[in-house]
Parts: sequence; structure tokens; C-alpha cells
Amino acid sequence: MEKYYISYNQIHTIMKNLSCEIRESGFEPDYIVAIGTGGFIPARMIKTFINRPILTVGIAYYDLNDNIMDTPHIIQWIDEPQVKLEGKKILLVDEVDDSRATIGYCLEKLLTHNPQEIAVTVVHNKKKEKRGSIPPEIKKYFAGETMDDKWICYPWDADDICEHDINCKY
Ligand code: G4P
Ligand code: MG
Repeated sequence: MEKYYISYNQIHTIMKNLSCEIRESGFEPDYIVAIGTGGFIPARMIKTFINRPILTVGIAYYDLNDNIMDTPHIIQWIDEPQVKLEGKKILLVDEVDDSRATIGYCLEKLLTHNPQEIAVTVVHNKKKEKRGSIPPEIKKYFAGETMDDKWICYPWDADDICEHDINCKY
């Protein structure tokens, strides 16, 4: 599969632009929820522009032997979710909307805690047939870049970050 390299600087710029778009949409989150691990660094970048507390969740779609499971499952969740989420506005952040299975599952779980509204933001959305879906309650979806189905090489996965950066636009 064709590879697409992206740098920390590019992602920082994308998160800044996304934050502007989110603010201009009138959405003012109470909490940022980051889906680990890919959503951690993008969520922290958003916090620079939309300064809300970050809650983190862990969802695994692969088992310890790297085999895909039937459905994603929770490996870490929010403490006292009813207290934190009920009636609140949540900005859910992940790095990539690929099959949508993880994001769709996470949104279903978050909705059980009766938030007022959830908006989703991803650095990349891949144009492809999606296995999961965004529940109809979710009206706000922001993607930094929408792209063909390539393998995205994120800087946090790089063994040699200088070499990685050579393959990036800037
Ligand atoms: P989705 O709901 O966000 O579309 O996720 P999906 O279940 O389809 O993705 C399974 C895992 O594959 C996710 O990692 C996702 O980040 C990763 N992934 C999908 N496409 C790419 C890609 O192009 N590049 C990279 N680097 N990763 C990709 P995860 O199991 O949540 O683990 P983590 O890496 O976020 O910790
Ligand atoms: Mg991920």
C-alpha cells in the first residue's frame, strides 16, 4: 500500500485549523476525549487552542497477538462517566477514521452516558467503505485531511524522526 508521511508540524497546523473550524461552528466542549493511543498527541495539540481538560479512553480492536477481534472492546474508560459526561459537550479526538469501527463503538459507549452533544474530530479521514458508522445523534464531524486509502505514517511511530521528516511535505 502506498505510504503517506506526516510530520508533527503538519499535524500541529492541522489541529490549529480544526480548532478554528470547531470554534466557528459554535461548538464549545466541556471536555476533550482522546482515543488512545493515536488520539493522544492530536488531542494535546487541540488543547493549545481549545483549552479544556482531556479525558482518555482505550479501545482495542486487535488482541495481544495482533489478531483482529469480532468487535472492538474497552481497555480503559473514564472514571465516574455519568458525573463527567451527563449533559456535557464532548469533543472526541482520534488520529484516523479508517474502518470507523473503533470510533463508532466509542461513540455508542459515550452516548450511553447522556452527554448533551458530541463532536468528532480526526486528523485524517480515509475515503473508503466503512465497517462502523457514526451514530445519527452525532451532527458535528471535523476531518483535517480527507484522503484516499493509503497507509499513513505518523511521526510518533517513527524509529528515526529525522528520516521520517525527510519524507514529509514540511
Ligand atoms: P477507526 O474506528 O478509527 O477507523 O479505527 P480502526 O478500528 O479502523 O483502526 C484500527 C487501528 O488501525 C487503529 O489503531 C488505527 O489508528 C490504526 N490505523 C488505521 N489506519 C492507519 C494508518 O493509515 N496509519 C496508522 N499508523 N494507523 C492506522 P488502534 O488500534 O486504535 O491503536 P493506536 O495506534 O491508536 O494505539
Ligand atoms: Mg487510533
